[in-house]
Amino acid sequence: MAGRLAGKVAFISGAARGQGRAHAIRMAEEGADIIGFDAAGPLPSQGAPAASPEDLAETARQVEERDRRVIARQADASDLGAVTAVLDEGIAEFGRLDIVVANAGVQGNPAPIVQTSAEEWGAVIASNLTGVFNTARAAAPHIIAGGRGGSIILTSSSIALRAQPGLGPYGSSKTGIIGLMRALALELGEHSIRVNSIHPTTVRTPMLINDINFRLFRPDLEQPTLEDVEPVYRTLNVLPVPWVEPEDIANAAVFLASEEGRYITGVALPVDAGYTLK
Ligand SMILES: NC(=O)c1ccc[n+]([C@@H]2O[C@H](COP(=O)([O-])OP(=O)(O)OC[C@H]3O[C@@H](n4cnc5c(N)ncnc54)[C@H](O)[C@@H]3O)[C@@H](O)[C@H]2O)c1
Repeated sequence: MAGRLAGKVAFISGAARGQGRAHAIRMAEEGADIIGFDAAGPLPSQGAPAASPEDLAETARQVEERDRRVIARQADASDLGAVTAVLDEGIAEFGRLDIVVANAGVQGNPAPIVQTSAEEWGAVIASNLTGVFNTARAAAPHIIAGGRGGSIILTSSSIALRAQPGLGPYGSSKTGIIGLMRALALELGEHSIRVNSIHPTTVRTPMLINDINFRLFRPDLEQPTLEDVEPVYRTLNVLPVPWVEPEDIANAAVFLASEEGRYITGVALPVDAGYTLK
C-alpha cells in the first residue's frame, strides 16, 4: 500500500474519539495498521463527558474502512499491565511496532491549586503523565527489538508552554511530559527512535467543547453556550481561529512519524495557531 507510513504499525492511546481517533484515521490513510486503546468509559477527574465503547468501535470501523487492520481495546493508560496486554495482543497479530502516539489525557476539574484536592491532583497525573509513561514504557522495548527505529509522539498541550489559571494539575502533567520526552529522546536515540511532543492549542473535541469549559471561560454567564465562548477562545490564539481541528494535530503527528521527520527528535512542537506567542 502506498502512503507515508506504509507497512508500519502505530500504537495509539485515547483512540476512541477526538484527536486519538484522528490519529488512527490519518495514520491508516497513510498506510499504517493501528493498535488502539481507550478507557472508553468514565475516568476520575475527566472534566468532560466520558467516551464510550461505541466511540472506540467507530474508530476501528473507520480504520477498517480505509483497508487497514486494527485492534481496539478498552484499557486505562494509568494501568501498565493493561496497556502492556493490549500492545502484546497487537504485536502478536501485526508482528511489529514503529510508531507510538501517547495521546490519552483528561482535563481535570478547573479550580485554583489552593482548592485542588490530593485526589484530583493524583487522578490527573495518573492519566496524563503516568499514562504517557506507561504507554511509552510498554512500547519502546518492542521498537528497539524491531531494529528499524521508530517515532514516539507524546501529546502535551500549549498550556505546558504558557500557563492558564485554574488548570494547575493539567498544566503540571503536560509540562512533565516535556521532561519525559527529552529523557526518552536522549535514551532512545541510539536505536534511531525519535521522541517528540506536540503542544496543541484549543482543539475542537469533547474535551474542549463542553459545559464545564464554557463556564470556565465565561464565568459571567449562568449557562454559557458555544456561541458565548467562541469569541473568548479566539482571543487565546494569534491566528483568527477559536480552535483547530483534530486532523491538524494528526497531520503534525504523521509528519513527525514519517520519513520527512527523520532527523527531528527532542522537540516540543506547538501546533497552536500562535497561542504560545501571546
Ligand atoms: N482539546 C483540546 O483543546 C486540547 C488541547 C491541548 C491538548 N489536548 C490533549 O490532547 C489529548 C487528546 O484529547 P482530546 O482533545 O482528543 O480529548 P477527548 O476527551 O475528546 O479524548 C481523550 C480520549 O482519551 C481517553 N482517555 C483519557 N484518559 C485515559 C486513560 N487514563 N486511559 C485510557 N484512555 C483515556 C478518553 O476516554 C478519551 O476518549 C489529551 O492528552 C489532551 O490533554 C487537548
